[in-house]
Amino acid sequence: MSYGRVDGSVSKTRVCIFAIVLMSIGICIGILLGYLIGYSVHSESTNESCGAACNEPDDDISKRLMSSMNTANIRHYLSVLTENPHLAGTSADKYTAEYIQSTWLEQGFDSADIHSYDVLLSYPDEDNPNLVQILNDDDTVNYTCSDMEESLRPEDEHPEMVKQFNAYSAAKMAKGDLVYVNYARVSDFDTLESVAPHVNLTGKILIARYGRLFRGNKVLNAQNRGAIGMILYSDPADYGSNDDNAKEYPDDWWLPGTGAQRGNLHVSDYKGDVLTPGYPANSYMVRIDEEDSPLPDIPVQPIGYDDALIFLRELGGDIAPESWQGGLNISYRIGPGFTNPNRSVQMDIHTSRERRLTYNTIGFIRGQVEPDRYVIVGNHHDAWIYGSVDPSSGTASMLEISNAFGLLLKDGWRPRRSIIFCSWGAEEYGLIGSTEWVEEFVKNLGARSIAYLNVDQSVNGDWYMRAKASPLLFQAIFSAAKKVDDPSDPSKSVYDVWLERNPDFLNPVPYVSNLGSGSDFAPFMYRIGVPGADIRYTYSRSLGISSYPAYHSAYETLYLMETYIDPGFKYHLAVSRVWAELTRDIAEAIIIPFNCNDYTSRLVESIDKLKKDYETDMAQHGITFSDIDSAMINFTNAARDLHVRIDGMIKNDAMAIRAVNDQLMNVERAFIDPLGLPDRKFLRHIVFAPSSTNSYSSATFPGIVDAMFKIDEDSDQDGRWKVVEEQMSVAAFTIQSASTTMADYQM
Ligand SMILES: *[C@@H]1O[C@H](CO)[C@@H](O)[C@H](O)[C@H]1NC(C)=O
Ligand SMILES: *[C@@H]1O[C@H](CO)[C@@H](O)[C@H](O)[C@H]1NC(C)=O
Ligand SMILES: *[C@@H]1O[C@H](CO)[C@@H](O)[C@H](O)[C@H]1NC(C)=O
Ligand SMILES: *[C@@H]1O[C@H](CO)[C@@H](O)[C@H](O)[C@H]1NC(C)=O
Ligand SMILES: *[C@@H]1O[C@H](CO)[C@@H](O)[C@H](O)[C@H]1NC(C)=O
Ligand SMILES: *[C@@H]1O[C@H](CO)[C@@H](O)[C@H](O)[C@H]1NC(C)=O
Ligand SMILES: [Zn+2]
Repeated sequence: MSYGRVDGSVSKTRVCIFAIVLMSIGICIGILLGYLIGYSVHSESTNESCGAACNEPDDDISKRLMSSMNTANIRHYLSVLTENPHLAGTSADKYTAEYIQSTWLEQGFDSADIHSYDVLLSYPDEDNPNLVQILNDDDTVNYTCSDMEESLRPEDEHPEMVKQFNAYSAAKMAKGDLVYVNYARVSDFDTLESVAPHVNLTGKILIARYGRLFRGNKVLNAQNRGAIGMILYSDPADYGSNDDNAKEYPDDWWLPGTGAQRGNLHVSDYKGDVLTPGYPANSYMVRIDEEDSPLPDIPVQPIGYDDALIFLRELGGDIAPESWQGGLNISYRIGPGFTNPNRSVQMDIHTSRERRLTYNTIGFIRGQVEPDRYVIVGNHHDAWIYGSVDPSSGTASMLEISNAFGLLLKDGWRPRRSIIFCSWGAEEYGLIGSTEWVEEFVKNLGARSIAYLNVDQSVNGDWYMRAKASPLLFQAIFSAAKKVDDPSDPSKSVYDVWLERNPDFLNPVPYVSNLGSGSDFAPFMYRIGVPGADIRYTYSRSLGISSYPAYHSAYETLYLMETYIDPGFKYHLAVSRVWAELTRDIAEAIIIPFNCNDYTSRLVESIDKLKKDYETDMAQHGITFSDIDSAMINFTNAARDLHVRIDGMIKNDAMAIRAVNDQLMNVERAFIDPLGLPDRKFLRHIVFAPSSTNSYSSATFPGIVDAMFKIDEDSDQDGRWKVVEEQMSVAAFTIQSASTTMADYQM
């Protein structure tokens, strides 16, 4: 707007005033007309007392949203996404981000922008292959492992397929004797010490099977025990079938002997870019020195089980314990070294660490009533190769739900709250795109986000839909899952099948696990206290496998997905519908559909477990649960009272609605301690965190559990028990804080 120049001429000023008066009358009539038209159009659904702000969402929207999605679209998106490898930091990463951006703009989003970050990534050296070898007596090379899966279908070949590697491995050479350490869990090293106390791991190269534990923790465990290198392999017991007649890719979904699991080794409390902990990796942010980063010091390389067999069958030393015997037809030995003591293992690893750009696409649908409240939907787009399961099945689902929301927008609908769609880059390197974005917009997201709803893999099996979530979201997930037909039996809902196949043994509902780490909900939940959820359709646990067999290998192709995992894409459609409906519900409901009573139950279960594990031991050191119990009584009452108050509310006052919604939004945030967990300052949630010994799994009350971990073995008994006492009081205080968040406002 610009201001007219006043030149002092009276007549001109009069003309001006006259014109302004005329215009004002015109505008008034316009507004009145608009109001009347608006009133007549909306009078049926408008609440006369407070307008749109008090309207219950229209039930029909949910039906239209779900019925507008279809399997053909999902297959189309997946085929586009899996056409080329799209590893983070490559031109294909950028291309994928741009494809998602243009798709969202076409679908009718208000905006879709690309946010890039300059982060530390890691690649094998094209010209200098990573070598894992057996040396003869005279140090000549006897055997060299393959560093790329065998091509089993010509259609799968592509010049940009990245070779086998573990991101952020040290680029080093190591030569020594080999020791087999099972899954390389802390408990495996304890077992090793008791069954083979003479085995000294210093200077050894360790071979471990994948599974049960995040690979980065395996490497950390090896390094802490003096190992100089580590070989990771996929054992048929963990990635194959028990059935001898089972077929492997491309004849079925089982992992062939040349299949290797790529994956990063970034273990830290902060995740995201290793060089910019706590801050966005933008152009001016100062980087820490790489030597100060938490990356491994030893070379690490993944191999398939055909190659692992060559190494393991030659190992000497004692027979490994029964539970360490894998699925290869040999008797697994521990070592150290081979039966011929003159033969040894050599690793020569050239995996780089280099700064490159990675790209997030952020799409926005502006809310109509509360545009400053965000419901965030997310999935990463970077893949090790084609990523037909991880993550492209999730990306295909996301593009179909964005299309469904776009169709509603084109019909004039808008959600009550804003919906932000996020397609993350470099998740596979340690949740980088999501973490950097949360770090960049930490204030806005911390103040405005209602929930973060993640799908990483949409479908990796067809047994049941599994969910991980903050307890606040349990009911909302159940209610969405009840509205969607299950593909296995149209007379049942996704909820029914889930309840049948994965029940919660303490309550008559399906089981929802705690979040742990492992995908992009982590920075939202653990850094800023935004309640997160992650859903996928998955295989039966009775298969006894560590992940779907082709996980992070060259065999994760469109062919694998549409031939064996989800022919017809019906499971994709089911997950997409649950995800869309959950998003719509949280974006639309007048009162945010969080249930604090479920938080009470999950807290009580977690505290019962703490008592079972530690109460006796703690009592001997004069530490009791009385403050935690007192805080829990207060939390229980406050949660119950809040819901009673909400149920009794006459929902005709926009300010009152906003006030209880703010309370609901702040419950999760109340569990955030700005100082963070002991020695893990970027993990700030007092109740839930990734386990410190296994980033994949979740710990409840991690501060207490970590303080109690192997406490008897610590020489500083007084110091350690002091930490336990502190952590117990922090837990009591935090639960109490959360309960005051839910209480009525009078202090
Ligand atoms: C409007 O508010 C009244 C009073 O609280 C409530 O009973 C009614 O259901 C509301 N109407 C709509 C359309 O939401
Ligand atoms: C590798 O070692 C095996 C077993 O000692 C031996 O039979 C074979 O000839 C060796 N091959 C090479 C190429 O050194
Ligand atoms: C293990 O080996 C290293 C290096 O050979 C040696 O320094 C260390 O003392 C050994 N540890 C034990 C417990 O024997
Ligand atoms: C396992 O190995 C043994 C001894 O080498 C052999 O006799 C047997 O046929 C093998 N079994 C299978 C299923 O390959
Ligand atoms: C290992 O090397 C030593 C020294 O060269 C030799 O005496 C011994 O026979 C070799 N052992 C085997 C099993 O080949
Ligand atoms: C729980 O509430 C009671 C009553 O307000 C209060 O006395 C007590 O200190 C609270 N418990 C904790 C751990 O703060
Ligand atoms: Zn993933």
